[in-house]
Amino acid sequence: MGRVSHAGTIPPSCLHAVFRAAEERERTTGRPVVKLHVGEPYFPPPREVALAVEHAVHDGRTAYTSAEGMHALREALAVKLETENGHRTSPERVFVTPGSCQGLAALFQSLASPGDELLMPELHWPIHLQQVLLAGFRPVFYALGPGYRPRLESLREAVTPRTRAVLVNSPANPTGAVLDAETMTGILELAREHDLQIISDEAYEHFVYEGEHLSFASLESGLPEEERRVSSTFTFSKSLAMTGYRLGYVVTPNAAAAHALRVVQEASIIGPSTPIQYAGLTALKAEDSARANARMVRANRDRALPALREAGLLAELPQGGWYAVIDVGSTGVDADTFAASLLETHEVGVAPAAGFALRPVFSDDGRVLASDPAPEARTLVRLAFCGDPVELDTGVSRLLAHVRDLRSRGGSP
Ligand SMILES: Cc1ncc(COP(=O)(O)O)c(C=O)c1O
Repeated sequence: MGRVSHAGTIPPSCLHAVFRAAEERERTTGRPVVKLHVGEPYFPPPREVALAVEHAVHDGRTAYTSAEGMHALREALAVKLETENGHRTSPERVFVTPGSCQGLAALFQSLASPGDELLMPELHWPIHLQQVLLAGFRPVFYALGPGYRPRLESLREAVTPRTRAVLVNSPANPTGAVLDAETMTGILELAREHDLQIISDEAYEHFVYEGEHLSFASLESGLPEEERRVSSTFTFSKSLAMTGYRLGYVVTPNAAAAHALRVVQEASIIGPSTPIQYAGLTALKAEDSARANARMVRANRDRALPALREAGLLAELPQGGWYAVIDVGSTGVDADTFAASLLETHEVGVAPAAGFALRPVFSDDGRVLASDPAPEARTLVRLAFCGDPVELDTGVSRLLAHVRDLRSRGGSP
């Protein structure tokens, strides 16, 4: 066999294994698994959005658009960014992307040069790590403080002469942590001091439960473009449950960043799907649905998660997002054993967080030799609280029963 390619050395997302295990369980028992491992919302996309796609296809509005996307949509997005996010920008800096996932991958590619390091949180969305590695960045992990919130000192400690970029994700997947204004300002100052780019993933912008969402780029709206350094990514997937539509957008800080991203977009997608962009134009008018959806997820959090805190599994309720990270160390088993036995005995799926804390080991020539989980994540488990309320309550009460059972048996599943 020939040499393994760079991509071939990068670990698959841990979520695949969890999905497969849950599906296998459903197949063998014929009973549904309570799916707390997936972030699929129980509220549907607005109906008018589906109609917009249907009409676009029916009317033949299906030709290629430019790599950046339709001007009308980018114009509407620039207005949304200014009014909702306090981010003054122009349609020329906005790129429509097939999901923010592809936008992020393109952004990392557009920013990386060989040998560059990128700072990212020690607990992170596994896809972020894949994207960072695929782009050729070396990830360096910054430690998180109470509530899994980034600590400015740990970012400062992680900077080296090779650091080129910082990834922030607020509200965060998997932790639900929300960055405060003071930490953001500190990160921006650090970035100016060391000439770093900031990548701000704001997929969960509408799901902030304490205070208001703060868009990172709003902090530099007063600066001339050349001095801006924040690239931001957003999505229609979460706020409006448009997960399968694959529609997101990236906002670049200046002409140079837009130029680099345009090259990557042209080379990788030619342009985003045209009918789906019409869906986006309609979806931008559905702000009320986004707010109602956020209220529903918040109600789920407030109803279902306090019991996990009372059971000593969760230090504080997540401040935002769709997920909570619980620590099952008190049951005497690790997260993998906990998740497998919970699925087996109670038919509830959760995601062990080891896969959210992989630490790649590199060869001298930058190849990934291995990716082992950080020991601190050994007993952490992620669960989603954006799903059907009845299913969520059932899942949490079964999980608590499993915890009680394990504790009473001294950790033998
Ligand atoms: C933190 C974060 N960013 C980005 C995404 C990508 O979402 P999409 O590609 O659907 O826009 C997700 C999806 O789970 C996510 O959790």
